[in-house]
Amino acid sequence: MPRGSLENHLFRKGSLPLPWSIRMKIALGAAKGLAFLHEEAERPVIYRDFKTSNILLDADYNAKLSDFGLAKDGPEGDKTHVSTRVMGTYGYAAPEYVMTGHLTSKSDVYSFGVVLLEMLTGRRSMDKNRPNGEHNLVEWARPHLGDKRRFFRILDPRLEGHFSIKGALKAAQLAAQCLSRDPKARPRMSEVVETLKPLPNLNDMASSSYYFQTMQSDRSRSSNITAKNGIRVQAGFVTRNGQPMRNLSSLNGPQASPFHQHPPSPKPKAKEP
Ligand SMILES: Nc1ncnc2c1ncn2[C@@H]1O[C@H](COP(=O)(O)OP(=O)(O)OP(=O)(O)O)[C@@H](O)[C@H]1O
Ligand SMILES: [Mg+2]
Repeated sequence: MPRGSLENHLFRKGSLPLPWSIRMKIALGAAKGLAFLHEEAERPVIYRDFKTSNILLDADYNAKLSDFGLAKDGPEGDKTHVSTRVMGTYGYAAPEYVMTGHLTSKSDVYSFGVVLLEMLTGRRSMDKNRPNGEHNLVEWARPHLGDKRRFFRILDPRLEGHFSIKGALKAAQLAAQCLSRDPKARPRMSEVVETLKPLPNLNDMASSSYYFQTMQSDRSRSSNITAKNGIRVQAGFVTRNGQPMRNLSSLNGPQASPFHQHPPSPKPKAKEP
């Protein structure tokens, strides 16, 4: 496929950050693929290896699922699950599947939640190079998903504020539902598709929101103290792996960012985004 895998776009060194609306388009396209397999195919199929390296992209960033090597016919008749030897990729597999080997389409929904979280945070599902407590993306991110302010802190800093506030909150809520520990509490993929449909077209960008910019400048002020890992950072920078990085609020001109810069709105339109 001309644009390779989502994994390369999100994580390969030197790749330009994927813009927000493209991330949402890819999430929607991949969700449609799983919804088709689960709910529209003649015989339901559980994909079982949903992850960023198996999401391939055409020239227009339409997502295609690859590698059906692990796909499994879904349960037949009144059976609720298929029993299998646990296979798939660590960091993406649903906890109940890992523990019991019982496979349902809700295992794919969990993996979808992991990929959505990778797209939102720019972090890999498993990353041993991060500090202790941050190796497993889901465990690290879960407590941040329910709270607006805490969630904005874990959004991919490479977006530099170029994301829809409404869209990001909706996507965070959706990721939390997909990652529910109880498989029955996870949505069906057709519901995921419906939730994602409007997201690529939302334009309430955080970079032009007074509320968001105020929050960011508060953060950069408070980050001008010794960071957790003992490295001192300047105002306007946050650390990642000990490396200083540009803060979301630093609008440094076109050559510093691949994104078009929008001037901030002069006044808040509303108290909350
Ligand atoms: N048709 C294709 N077009 C572009 N890139 C592809 C294509 N098929 C595979 N790739 C990329 O090549 C690399 C290797 O793919 P491969 O499927 O062998 O391994 P993987 O996806 O990392 O793991 P798994 O074996 O579990 O699927 C991945 O980065 C994948 O995204
Ligand atoms: Mg693959």
